[in-house]
Parts: sequence; C-alpha cells; structure tokens
Amino acid sequence: MRTKIIYFLLFSLIFIFSCKKDTKKINETPQSEPTPTTNIYLPIVPQGWPAPSYMFQNNPVTYDGFTLGRYLFYEPLLSLDTTVACGSCHEQTFAFSNGPSHTFSHGVNDVIGKRNSLALFNLTWPNQLMWDGAVNNLENQAITPITNPVEMNLNLGTAVSRLSYSTKYKTLFKKAFGDTLINSQRMLRAFAQFMGLMVSNNSKYDKVKAGQDVFTLSENNGYAVFTTNCAGCHTEPLFSDYTFRNKGLPINAYQDSGRYNITQNTADIYKFKVPTLRNLGFTAPYMHDGRFQTLSEVIDFFTNGVANTQNLDPFMVTPHPITIQQKSDLISFLNTLNDYSFTTNPRFSEIH
Ligand code: HEC
Ligand code: HEC
Repeated sequence: MRTKIIYFLLFSLIFIFSCKKDTKKINETPQSEPTPTTNIYLPIVPQGWPAPSYMFQNNPVTYDGFTLGRYLFYEPLLSLDTTVACGSCHEQTFAFSNGPSHTFSHGVNDVIGKRNSLALFNLTWPNQLMWDGAVNNLENQAITPITNPVEMNLNLGTAVSRLSYSTKYKTLFKKAFGDTLINSQRMLRAFAQFMGLMVSNNSKYDKVKAGQDVFTLSENNGYAVFTTNCAGCHTEPLFSDYTFRNKGLPINAYQDSGRYNITQNTADIYKFKVPTLRNLGFTAPYMHDGRFQTLSEVIDFFTNGVANTQNLDPFMVTPHPITIQQKSDLISFLNTLNDYSFTTNPRFSEIH
C-alpha cells in the first residue's frame, strides 16, 4: 500500500512538473518516442490547451500498460468470430477512423451499424464520447464496441477468459500490472492508457501557433471565415466545444435522434456531439452518418442545406452565406489541421 502511495505521489509530481515546466519541450517534440527507462509515460498536455477531463486517476500510464493497450487494440480475439479488432474500424492512416469506403462500419459477420466511425485522438479532453455521448469515461469506452452486436459482439467475461488462456497476454498483463491476473478492469485501463496517449497536436496550424510556420494568404483568409462561421461550436484549440447540437442536417433514413437516445429528453432530439475539425483530410466521409464525402459538400450544406428541424441550433437559424472564394480559403485553412506525423507515428501502429 505504502509503495502504491509513493508511486502515485511520484507520478503526480512528475505530472505536475511536466505540466508546468516541460510543456514547451513536449510541444516542440510532440510525437517523440519516450524511452521506457522510467517505465512512466507522461500524458501530453500541449501548451495553451485546457486541462483534460480524463487525468488517468488510479491508472498511471506506464510503458508496459500502454504497450498492452496497443496489443489489445489490434486483437481480433476480442470479437465473437475473431475477425474484427478495434483497429479494423479505426485505422491509423485515416487518423483512426474507418476510411472513405466505409460510410457505416462493418462488425462481426459483416453486420453494418448506422453511424460513421469516429476518428480517435485527443480523447482525454471530451467528458462524453460517441456521437451521442453514450460513454462518459475513457476507461469504460472499450466495453461498448466489444459487447455491441453490430461491432465485436462478445460478452466481457468471454473476452477476459480468452485473454486468460493466452500465454502472451499473461506475460503482458504481468509486465503492466505486476501479476498475471487478467480481469476486465485491467483490460479497460490498458485500453485507456493506449488511447489516452493518442494526442494529435502537430499540424501546420499548431506550428503556426507556436511561431514555427506561417499561414499562406488563403489559409489566413480561411481562418477568418472559420472564426466567423464555425468557431462558436468547433472551438480552438481542440476544434470542438464538446457540446451536443442540432446543426440542421436533414433527417436521415434511420431517423437517428442522437443525444435523445441517451437522455430521453425531447430537448435533445437530433443533437449530436460537435466533432473536432482536426485531421479532416484523413477522416472522410463526414457527419454521424457519413453523408458527405468532401469538405466542399459540408460547406455547401452549411450555406444552402440547413433544415429547420426540431431543436435547430439558434446559430443556424439565420443563414451564413459563404462566397466561392471564401469557401476555397476555408478549405485551405481546414487542411492546415491535418497532422501527418500522427497518422504515421510508429508508436500507435500494430505490433507484428
Ligand atoms: C465495427 C466497427 C468498430 C469497431 C470494431 C470498434 N469501433 Fe469504435 N467506433 C465505431 C463507431 C461507428 C463509432 C461511433 C459510434 C457512435 O457514436 O455511436 C465508434 C466510436 C468510438 C470511440 C468514441 C470516440 C469519440 O470521439 O467519441 C472510441 C474511443 C472507440 N470507438 C474506441 C474503440 C475501441 C477501443 C474498440 C475496440 C475495443 C473499438 N472502438 C471497436 C466503430 C467501431
Ligand atoms: C451550431 C454549431 C456548429 C457550427 C456553427 C458549425 N458546426 Fe460543424 N458540426 C456541428 C455538429 C453538431 C456536427 C455533427 C453533426 C452530425 O453528424 O449530426 C458537426 C460536424 C461537422 C463536420 C463533420 C466532421 C466529422 O468528423 O464527420 C465538419 C467537417 C464540420 N462540422 C465543419 C464545419 C464548418 C467548416 C463550419 C463553419 C462553416 C461548421 N462546421 C460550423 C456543429 C457546428
């Protein structure tokens, strides 16, 4: 117990120290490979960003915990027919979304869901995950896809017992948690360690903010168009305020009522989580049902396609015209939010 407390204090100190003194260094080399010498990974909080909502309480990130999470993320044993892993629907080249050929994701037996896969990065900031906020803690997140019939369709007990039969996982759990006990809490914590460290903060936009690069004229004009029309919901630096809103998308064939599914409050009908605009260059198609293939379509919807449905966001009630020139500038600006070092960082790839 005492060693646990000392360990926790040590971790907290390093964490506080890292926030106060080291952020600049971290910001300069955001994707550098930490050495496993101390066995402790520092969660990255880039300079100028708000405090994350998930702070790895009771789940200090270690090299071995992160590595276990990394193996689990690519583990098809966690699906009923052992064909689907988290990484099947969340692919690194697409910033851990599902890629352009998948409007809806395919789970086990090729069952198709009704929502477009979300990209995975900067996940410690939102306090509610999923398009409708169904999950409120990064540590509980993995339960949903593993048990969901349209995703991996395996009950948690079976998932744990499959891992317990594996010598590979016995070794990995022992390294991560000190002994070979395999249970769902440890599994979920390892997932949170891996996903919580997927921080994307190395786009051109970030370099411009750090004074290491400059916007072109078009990007700069696009930034102004963004500030007027988009920033109220897609707030910097995470490019989301993580609220739920009805942006005015015409209702789809599934009549998906979004946040209402979770709260049963009629004031939430048709509201969806404001998603980040970082890495849009990798994450097409767009919206909760993947209805738009290109950013051009997204902006055309914004100027001409808003439907006056129940709970339409007040901001969207009045039209916000965007000229052809402004549209092209806005797309240039949005492209500065692509972080190529994130989609190629070997630290997050499958271990072969
Ligand atoms: C069959 C495809 C599929 C598989 C397999 C899958 N996911 Fe997902 N994931 C999705 C879809 C679709 C969403 C959006 C669902 C929604 O919002 O209703 C999502 C959402 C998420 C989110 C929320 C992100 C955010 O910004 O709110 C996280 C985190 C996540 N998945 C992690 C995982 C993990 C961990 C696994 C493996 C245990 C996994 N996913 C397996 C398709 C999949
Ligand atoms: C009133 C709040 C609000 C404003 C203003 C707003 N958005 Fe959105 N945006 C949302 C919400 C909510 C969603 C999710 C909608 C859904 O899927 O149902 C979204 C989704 C998106 C997506 C899809 C992202 C993805 O991962 O699928 C893009 C791209 C986007 N918005 C760009 C913009 C741009 C560009 C502007 C300004 C021209 C803008 N938004 C203005 C609330 C807003």
